[in-house]
Amino acid sequence: MTVHIGAKPGDIAEVILLPGDPYRAKWAAETFLTEAVCVNQVRGMLGFTGLWNGHRVTIQGSGMGMPSLSIYANELIRDYNAQTLIRIGSCGGMQDHVGIRDVILAQTASTISTPSSTIFRDLNFAPCADFGLLVAADRAARSLGVKTHVGGIYSSDTFYDERQDLTDQMERHGILGVEMEAAELYILAARYKRRALAVLTVSDHLKTHEALPSEDRERSFGDMVQIALHAAFD
Ligand code: HPA
Repeated sequence: MTVHIGAKPGDIAEVILLPGDPYRAKWAAETFLTEAVCVNQVRGMLGFTGLWNGHRVTIQGSGMGMPSLSIYANELIRDYNAQTLIRIGSCGGMQDHVGIRDVILAQTASTISTPSSTIFRDLNFAPCADFGLLVAADRAARSLGVKTHVGGIYSSDTFYDERQDLTDQMERHGILGVEMEAAELYILAARYKRRALAVLTVSDHLKTHEALPSEDRERSFGDMVQIALHAAFD
């Protein structure tokens, strides 16, 4: 047990999928895993461990934003020996060629600040995905027929952003989408020599203001879970 995770030692697998929403962790475990058992209920941040194609997997909610994700990722890595951590979540599209429902594989995650910023001080560290996971996820997305983009994303501290000038500069520099967790996950994976990737479904669009209808969310979320599982065990 840790401060925020009630699982016993050994209850958590080495491969972990991290959706922000704990109810999505429950849905994904019930839909894609066999023999899934709930291993964490502390603060309602549900976690489940089960089997996918015979491989042990844990699906643990991370909460929203980097401070929350940082707590779960730190404890999963340092106390439960997590080796592969794949964020599965939603993002806002930022380029014309990126559509609603498309999947973004975040090769890099630019950011203004993360919980790790105090360590880096004036160093502009470049958080990036594990190359092997990235390539495997790209291969899985192609074989599943999911429209996928690979490139840079932005990890923000705000959902209701007031910096249109910053959004404009990111769009100008090819950033594909915005979410709120990946950069800290990549930084922790680098620090502890683990593998990390963020697989993101575009749920809304900053330029077109389109949003994924609620009836489509489950299907799109399922594509992302499958891409992440295939990549983890490629
Ligand atoms: N901004 C930040 N995070 C997000 C968004 C967004 O537009 N959409 C989904 N996650």
